[in-house]
This record gives sequence, structure tokens and C-alpha cells, in this order.
Amino acid sequence: MPRFPADFAWGVATSAYQIEGAVDEDGRGESVWDTFCRKPGATRDGHTGDVAADHYHRWQEDAGLMAELGLTAYRFSIAWPRVQPDGKGPANAAGLDFYDRLTDALLASGITPVPTLYHWDLPQPLQDDGGGWLARDTAQRFADYAEIAAERLADRIPLWITLNEPFVVMAFGYGLGVHAPGEALLLGALPTAHHQLLGHGLAAAALRSAGARQVAITNNHSPAWPATDDPADVAAAQAYDILHNRLFADPVLLGSYPDLSAFGAGPGGPDCVADGDLAVISAPLDAYGVNYYAPTRLSALPGEPLPFRMEPIEGYPVTAFGWPVIPAGLTEVLTTMKDRYGGRLPPVCITENGCSADDEVSPDGTVDDQPRIRYLDGHIRAVHDAMTAGVDVRGYFIWTLMDNFEWSEGYHQRFGLVHVDFATQRRTPKASFAWYRDLIAAQRRTA
Ligand code: BGC
Repeated sequence: MPRFPADFAWGVATSAYQIEGAVDEDGRGESVWDTFCRKPGATRDGHTGDVAADHYHRWQEDAGLMAELGLTAYRFSIAWPRVQPDGKGPANAAGLDFYDRLTDALLASGITPVPTLYHWDLPQPLQDDGGGWLARDTAQRFADYAEIAAERLADRIPLWITLNEPFVVMAFGYGLGVHAPGEALLLGALPTAHHQLLGHGLAAAALRSAGARQVAITNNHSPAWPATDDPADVAAAQAYDILHNRLFADPVLLGSYPDLSAFGAGPGGPDCVADGDLAVISAPLDAYGVNYYAPTRLSALPGEPLPFRMEPIEGYPVTAFGWPVIPAGLTEVLTTMKDRYGGRLPPVCITENGCSADDEVSPDGTVDDQPRIRYLDGHIRAVHDAMTAGVDVRGYFIWTLMDNFEWSEGYHQRFGLVHVDFATQRRTPKASFAWYRDLIAAQRRTA
């Protein structure tokens, strides 16, 4: 493994709804995911996050595992419904206490906490009242919540991430209906992109005024590859690139929307953009979070509201999800970002990268997840390649610490460095856990 800078952050990432459970404890309100999971057929086998990995009760054990890994940073998400059960109004002190305790425990182990304020668990009342992210008001509600969280924790937490993957919220949550809140509006989901971005901008300002020193956003990025060199497929890939990558990066980094004419929007972006919004959205950031899993291959689908079709990518190993394993795609994402945004791109952090596998505990009590080790090894090298090519990358967070609730796939996709037996909540570190621990130790050893 090549050598990374001494101050490079080595972390893991998790999210609240996927690990915490305890959905009705200490005053937590309902989130759109609680509601969505109860709809028949919404998740595989009707799985819910009611218990998940029971992290709300077992957080000390989990923090101990992180200390064993020798992590320098931990990215987790704060559950908005724990902090503001109705999505507005006063703070629920008991909800904040949980993250306060976690923060202190992490710091005591030399691990920098990196909270994400929104990893998809919108308070249900905001969905019921105004349509969630379809409503402009949700952006302001999000900023109010950000301020409450930072007032409590920013004295000890330097870097804050506003949103996780607003593309997925728009596309899966409001466009296709396969994630909460389960709306299938296709292009009618476009306003949720703008309202989330506005929420990011307003929250960034609120965080800073409450004492946060550094602010970032996390987007997921996927190289859009045309299925053939037929100009129609090339145009389809460009359209997808705009929707998946540029729609969420250009406003933040350039202060303008990309050309959304293929999706029926005018030159100024979605119709709901108001004067001054883009200035709020594009206030300079201290870091930019990139999540990467795999590239996307596209062919043309003329005449459809979404003018592309996803095609399989052959010739690579695949994860349990069937996603192709292509580390070079991560280098491509990073060098493309640098070429596209130049000096407007702040230092980058890989805030998620990882793979699912059919991990089982063998009779001798071990979990030998060699495919995950190969995946991670290849992708960490790919990050280094991008750094050699001049991209300023400051950290890498594996998705994820432990097996968890994988959204509509329920407990069927295991992404963790730690195996979780969901019947007993027993944690078993996998071979990849020891591999990552050793990698971090070797990187941190002074030459
Ligand atoms: C999300 C995670 C999710 C992972 C694997 C990312 O898009 O941020 O919450 O578990 O992908 O699907």
C-alpha cells in the first residue's frame, strides 16, 4: 500500500436509522423511514429499522470496536427526530444527550467525530404537513435543527456534514418511490433537489453562527459511461451525469444549475429557485464529501421522461448487490471533479466507500471476507492514484462499521467490517476489520 500523508483521516461511516434502533425511546419522534417500512412490500421481507444493530443501547461496545480499529475519525449521522421530534420547535434534550455522550467517548479514544445532520430520516410531521422536501419551508426547518445540534456539540466537533446524498433522496425517495417517503413523481421530484440544496446552504450558515468551524456536504458520484459510442448513448450518459452528479455539485461549487433542459427545466434550474438562493447554496465550504460505489452505464431511451436506461457493466467482479467492482471509477470521479471545478473544489474526503458480501460466521467463529478486503484495497489505492494526479484528498471512510439495515433491502446486504447476528446482536469482527486496523497502524507509524 502506498503511503498517505500523516494527517490523512482514516475512518468508518454509519447512519442513525441504519444502526440505532430504539425508535420510540427518549422522546424520539417518527421519521419517514419508520412509516415507509410499515407499508406492505416497501422493504424486503418487511424489515424495519426498529431494532437495527441496537447501537442506541450498545454504543459503548461499538465505540470500543472503533478504538480497536485505531480510527482517527468516525462519521455518524444525528437523527433529526431525536433532536426535534416534530421537525420543528424546541430541542429534545434527551435525544441530544445520546450524541453528546458518544462525542465525548470518541474524543477520549482520539477519534474525531464527524456528524452528518441528514441521512434520510426526515421527521414524519414535516412530510405530513408540507410534503417534506417538496416544500421550501423544510429547508428552513433543517437550518433550525442544524443550529440546535451545533449549539450543543460544536464546542467539541470541528467538521459538520449537512446532507448525505441528496441525489438518492430525490431519485429513490421522491422520483421512483423505492425509498421513504415512497413518492413516485419522476421529474416532479426535481424541486426536492433545490430544497435540499437550499437546506444545505441555510444549515451551513446556521452551523457557522452556532460555532461550527468547518462545513461540508456529501454527494454520491458515479461516472456515467455511455453503453456504446453511438451519439444517442453518449447524450444519454451526459443527461445522466447531469442528473446524478452535476445537479448536486454545480450549485454548491459553481453557484449555478447545469443545463436541465433534457428534464424540462429552464436555464435557471428548477422552477422553485428564488432570487438569492444560489448565493446561499454556494457559500464556500471547507471540505467536499464524495461517496463512491460504482460507475453507471447508460443507453438512450428516447421519448421517455428519463431519457436513459441503465445497462449492465460486464467483465468485473460484482458485490452481493451485483454492483461491479471498479476502483478506477473512483479515481475517475476525483480527477473529473478537479478538472470540472478547479479551485472551487475544496479539499475532498471520501465519506463512503465499501461493498456488501454474503458474509457468514464460520464454525471456528471467524468471518473471512476476502472479497471485501480486495474491494477496499483496490479503492484505497485508487484514492492514492487520484492524489498523485493532483486531487487534494484528506480522508477515507469505509462504509460501514457493522452490518446494518440496508434501506429497502432490509438486513439482506451486509456491508460491515463487523458481522452482526441480528437475532442476538452479537458482533464479530471480520477479516477486513483486522486488515483495516493493520493498514491504519502501518500508515500512522512514523517512518
Ligand atoms: C448510503 C448508505 C447505504 C450505502 C449502500 C449509500 O448510498 O449513504 O446509507 O447504506 O449507500 O447502499
